[in-house]
Amino acid sequence: MKNPGTEEGEVPAFTEQTQMMYVKTAQDLREYILDGAPTRKREDADYQARMAAAMVRMPAYRALVSAGQVEDLVAYLRAASGQVLPDDKLAARGAELAHELNCEGCHGALGAGGLPNPGSFKGYIPGFWGTDFDELVRSDDELEQWIAEGKIARVAEHPIGGRFFRRQAVQMPAYGKFRSPEEIQALIAYVRWVHAGTWQPLAGATIQGASSSAATGSDGIATLSLPNGSYALWAESANMIRSPRVTLFVGGSVSRQVNLTVEVAQTNANTNGSTGGGVAGTSIGLEVTPDALDFGRLGPGGSASSTVSVRNSGTVGLGVSAQVSGDAVFTDGVTLDAQPWRGFGASLATGARQPVNVGLRVSAAYLGAGVKQGTLGFWAVAR
Ligand code: HEC
Repeated sequence: MKNPGTEEGEVPAFTEQTQMMYVKTAQDLREYILDGAPTRKREDADYQARMAAAMVRMPAYRALVSAGQVEDLVAYLRAASGQVLPDDKLAARGAELAHELNCEGCHGALGAGGLPNPGSFKGYIPGFWGTDFDELVRSDDELEQWIAEGKIARVAEHPIGGRFFRRQAVQMPAYGKFRSPEEIQALIAYVRWVHAGTWQPLAGATIQGASSSAATGSDGIATLSLPNGSYALWAESANMIRSPRVTLFVGGSVSRQVNLTVEVAQTNANTNGSTGGGVAGTSIGLEVTPDALDFGRLGPGGSASSTVSVRNSGTVGLGVSAQVSGDAVFTDGVTLDAQPWRGFGASLATGARQPVNVGLRVSAAYLGAGVKQGTLGFWAVAR
C-alpha cells in the first residue's frame, strides 16, 4: 500500500526481509500491534517527526485485542516473515520455491488468503488453511492438481463451480508446465506444513510451571518427568513468543515412546528389529516393548514392518492412542495395524497385551536420504 510522506513511500510488508528491518524482537512485534510502534521508537524525536509527516500510520490495537490474540498475531508474523522455517528438507525447499514464485502475492502471507478475486465463488483467493482450503483440497492428489495444473476436475467440471472457475478475474497458474515434479512435491510439502500449523513449534524454549524444568528440542517437544498432580504449563524463550498455558494432569494418563530409525537409500529394503524394556506404572500403567525399532535401509517406494507389544500393566482399563513425530518419512509413512497411525485406537483391560504391527512405507516421491529418526508415542488414558 502507498504511503506518501514517508521515506519508503509504502506501508512495509510483514513478509520476508522487510520485517527484519523494523522488528528486532517478539516484544517489538507486540508493541507494534498494541501501541503502533515499539516504545524505543515512540520515545525517539526523529521517529515522531517522521510519523507526523506520513499519511498512514500503524494503528494502536491495545484497546481492541486480548493478550492471547496478540500472541497469536506475533506467532503468525514471525512465521510469515520467514523467521520460522520447516525442519523437513523437502518442505524447506518448498518454502524457498513459494517465495521465488510469489505464491503469497496471491494467497497472502503464509497462505492467510483473502486477496480480492472478482467473479470467483468466494470473491477472494483462498488461503492454505481454514475451511476454504478443506473444501477445495480434499486429498494430496487434489493438492498436486491445484499446483501442477492450476485446477481440479471436481471444481472445473462442476455445473455451477465450473462457471465461477472460468469467470474469475485471477486464475491459479499451472506450475507443472514450468517446474519439475520434484519442485511440485516440495511445494506440496510446504503447503502441507503451513496447513498443519507446525510453524508454531519452538526449539530451546523452557517449560515453566513445573517443579523441574525442561527445554524443547528442534521439534518443539520437551520431555518432563513430573510427580502425580495437576499442572498449568507454558513455554518461554528469551525475546520470543510465550505459548498458551496448557493444563496437564499426571496420574490419570501415561505415555510411552518407541524410537524409530530408518536409513533411506536408492537400494533394496530389509528389516530388522531390536529389543528394549518397558516401564510399569502404579495404578495406571502401560508397557511397550521394544522401545526402539530400526526399519533398516529402504529406497523410495520401499516398505518394512515390525511389531511392538503394548501391555496394560496397571489396575484400570486403558484407552490407547498413538502419535508419530520426527522426520516426514515417519509422520507421512507410518501405519499401525495397516491403517494410517492417526486413526489408531485400542482398549486394553488390566493385564491385557496386544501386538501392534508398525509399518513404514517410504513415499516414492520422498527426496531425503540418509538416516532418519522419529518417535512413536503411545498415550493411555484410564477408562
Ligand atoms: C496469480 C495468482 C496466484 C498465484 C501466484 C498462485 N495462486 Fe494458487 N490459486 C489462485 C487462485 C485464484 C486459486 C483458486 C482457484 C479457484 O478457486 O478456482 C488458487 C488455488 C490454489 C490452491 C487450492 C485452494 C486453496 O485453498 O489454496 C492451492 C493449494 C494453491 N493455489 C497453491 C499455490 C501455490 C503453492 C502457489 C505458488 C507456487 C500459488 N498457489 C500461486 C491464485 C494464485
